[in-house]
Amino acid sequence: MSKQEVMICHQLEDNLRHAIEKCPHDKIFILTDEHTRTFCLPLIEKMPFLRNAEQICIGVEDLHKNLETLAYVWTELSSKGGTRHSLMINLGGGMVTDLGGFAAATFKRGIQMINIPTTLLAMVDASVGGKTGINFNGLKNEIGSFAPADSVIIDCEFLKTLDHKNLLSGYAEMLKHGLISNTRHWSELITFNMENINFKHLQKLVGESVEVKENIVEQDPFEKGIRKALNFGHTIGHAFESFSLEIEKPVLHGYAVAWGMVCELYYSHQKTGFPKDKLYQTIQFIKNNYGKLEFTCKDYDRLYEFMKHDKKNVASGIVNFTLLGEIGDIRINQTASREDIFDMLDFYSETMG
Ligand code: GLY
Repeated sequence: MSKQEVMICHQLEDNLRHAIEKCPHDKIFILTDEHTRTFCLPLIEKMPFLRNAEQICIGVEDLHKNLETLAYVWTELSSKGGTRHSLMINLGGGMVTDLGGFAAATFKRGIQMINIPTTLLAMVDASVGGKTGINFNGLKNEIGSFAPADSVIIDCEFLKTLDHKNLLSGYAEMLKHGLISNTRHWSELITFNMENINFKHLQKLVGESVEVKENIVEQDPFEKGIRKALNFGHTIGHAFESFSLEIEKPVLHGYAVAWGMVCELYYSHQKTGFPKDKLYQTIQFIKNNYGKLEFTCKDYDRLYEFMKHDKKNVASGIVNFTLLGEIGDIRINQTASREDIFDMLDFYSETMG
């Protein structure tokens, strides 16, 4: 998989011109959703080199991350004169970069693309590393491909208008990058004031966070080994996310991951010796900022069912985890029994209560 250029942007127009110049093209398409068309597109559409760009707009949120929307994007590309030499700019959150990335990867067997993520979650995770796709048959990201954008342009100016919950959701992935990288970065993250955000400082942390992800993806682009580190917190996190949907109290992805990290850090402490002081310092930050997901021990079996169906598992019924022996000491391919999982959920209920 080719390496994508990730730019932490200070001058959006200059960075975008540079990215476009690297991709010789006959036509430019800009993909937005209904939100980014209103709030973000005006920041770029008047740039002289985008004057003739075609616009494609899709519905917001995960609900539209499906085959129908994908077919709509293919149809638009085709009817508006897209060729295999066209260039697609995905301007939006993870849904736009995932679906737009997959549309670009498959149209005419693949056209060039540039990601301009507009949410924190998309900046530090979805837009970087080449995973693209759509939901299918009720399963998240069931159909997709590894297709890195030619360039990713990260402009933290977009974050100034992002709501607090979505900032926290993206920040959970940054916290994960801190835990899987080094103590200095982790420590800076858990002492950052999320109540009164210093955007200049956040931009620096975003840059470091993206570097952690890039470094891992470069070593293992197709998730055969070390890329599984990026799944830390996600085994239990995805179960929390699915459970919250089922009880019709949906939570943002990053909140579920933050709570998942509480459980998986505890299990790391039990199984691979993750230090107790760092466990409790991280939990305190999560408690202060994310609150708690409500469930009782009657829900444990349902949560366990969700975990057993996680696509990260290697064999059916064996729940796979990435654990930590220390900050940055990654232990992939760990497993847990039903009893271990219930113990994690007990710990979560007692500690977060
Ligand atoms: N979101 C995890 C990964 O890109 O591997």
